Amino acid sequence: MRIRRKKWVDKELEECSFYLDTPTDKKGKWNEMFANNGPLHLELGCGKGSFISELASSNKNINYIAVDMIDQMLGLAKRNVEAKYKEKNLEVDNLFLVRMDIERILMILDKTDVVERIYINFCNPWPKGKHRKKRLTHTKQLELYKTFLKPGGEIFFKTDDDGLYIDSLRYFEESGFKIINKTDDLHNNCIFENNIITEHEQMFSSQGINIKAIIARV
Ligand SMILES: C[S@@+](CC[C@H](N)C(=O)[O-])C[C@H]1O[C@@H](n2cnc3c(N)ncnc32)[C@H](O)[C@@H]1O
Repeated sequence: MRIRRKKWVDKELEECSFYLDTPTDKKGKWNEMFANNGPLHLELGCGKGSFISELASSNKNINYIAVDMIDQMLGLAKRNVEAKYKEKNLEVDNLFLVRMDIERILMILDKTDVVERIYINFCNPWPKGKHRKKRLTHTKQLELYKTFLKPGGEIFFKTDDDGLYIDSLRYFEESGFKIINKTDDLHNNCIFENNIITEHEQMFSSQGINIKAIIARV
């Protein structure tokens, strides 16, 4: 995605207490990073952060890491998180925004970090053959996530893309995940307790595109 460079981003991220740039030194130590010792959940490809800001501020007993590789996105996410926590009169002590290429996620997480849930919302569909391995639900990626995903841990996945949805069902099964629930029309058959609408979900849904979703358990 092309996004215009914003001058304030570098300075604000540098000064932000809940932002980390490729924090390889935190690998295996995430449980020391939060104010409470609740379970750890991960969002991959958080974009502008409206999903994670609502989710994390509504669940202060759960700790979150939200990852994206584009600092301009993370700058907007930082502002969204601050605004949402301020609105609820809360301190941001259960969430870190992390700049990282998810293909290299094992640089910052290992099995002692014990992630209980991963959210993947509207990741790039990479429709062309040789690029498919870059999909965040590709078996190559799922094998990485299994390193730190707790046995019985879950991936909550949403997409607008029919091909990615169908292929992801196969990727999950090939990697030994069990499909717990799935739908090709989330907004008329919600498989989540509470569906927080993401920026891309809002956009695709307003274009009349059905939202597809999967819950997979390892
Ligand atoms: C299509 S946007 C979706 C954003 C948001 N999840 C939503 O639903 O509105 C995909 C996001 O994933 C990020 N992304 C894609 N591939 C990535 C990778 N390998 N590592 C880190 N972030 C990635 C992009 O920068 C972008 O912000």
